[in-house]
Amino acid sequence: MFQQIKKAATHIQALHKTRPQVGIVLGSGLGAFVDIVENPTIIPYSEIPFFRDTTVEGHEGRLIIGRIGNVEIAILQGRFHAYEGAPMEEVVFPVRVLAMLGIEVLVLTNAAGGINTKFVSGDLVIIEDHINMMAKNPLVGTNISELGPRFPDMTHAYDLDLLQTLQTVAKNKKIGIKKGVYAGVLGPTYETPAEIRMLRILGADMVGMSTVPESIAANHLGLRVAGISCITNMAAGIENVKLKHEDVKAQALKVMDLFKDLLEGFIGEIGNKGNG
Ligand code: HPA
Repeated sequence: MFQQIKKAATHIQALHKTRPQVGIVLGSGLGAFVDIVENPTIIPYSEIPFFRDTTVEGHEGRLIIGRIGNVEIAILQGRFHAYEGAPMEEVVFPVRVLAMLGIEVLVLTNAAGGINTKFVSGDLVIIEDHINMMAKNPLVGTNISELGPRFPDMTHAYDLDLLQTLQTVAKNKKIGIKKGVYAGVLGPTYETPAEIRMLRILGADMVGMSTVPESIAANHLGLRVAGISCITNMAAGIENVKLKHEDVKAQALKVMDLFKDLLEGFIGEIGNKGNG
């Protein structure tokens, strides 16, 4: 596995020489964010050794490397989900490759269902912690000690400094933003209303089918992680509507301008602090 990660990274480095400082994973319907990247090198996943191609509509399947302001970034436009049937190590493979390229900060974004009844569709929520409800973990198996320790600490899975930077940027730009705990479920079914009531009792504010594996792999690698959920719908049973992937994507598109503004400001701050 380690050799495969190295080979993928070497392939990418041959196409784009500069080291990225920040990695971003774009969730369902959030792919249009890449429009703001300057001088992008665009590499389809199908051309990168050992990358799986994504099968999900609304997930493009391209790596985009370039600059936003004075920060060099690498964007995964489209991700792999455990529900696609890939082994967890394939789900987190791209994050490991970005770490090999040199990123130190990883921003995970997703579309999520709102469980907290104070949330409304269209809210942007900073992930302050997660609950792994996938009954899977990408680190199961022989530990790859070149990547990280056998038993990684998850106390600060979502970096407090990055969370505060996101809050400050949102405040300065007058973007209303909330904070919450993300429950990662396997999917691909949306939840039942009873499952949503259970997740609320467990302390979850929102639910989705991604992010947790990448966050675990990133913490293993020692990366600093920030997470942003776009609440695309209220979770099952809260409003009297059926959940559809088309609506999730459409709602994500509606907040694209705010999302771009927030993330662009955040990346600018990372550049200013020189801590990327
Ligand atoms: N549940 C799970 N995943 C999701 C949801 C949801 O309600 N909305 C967007 N992704």
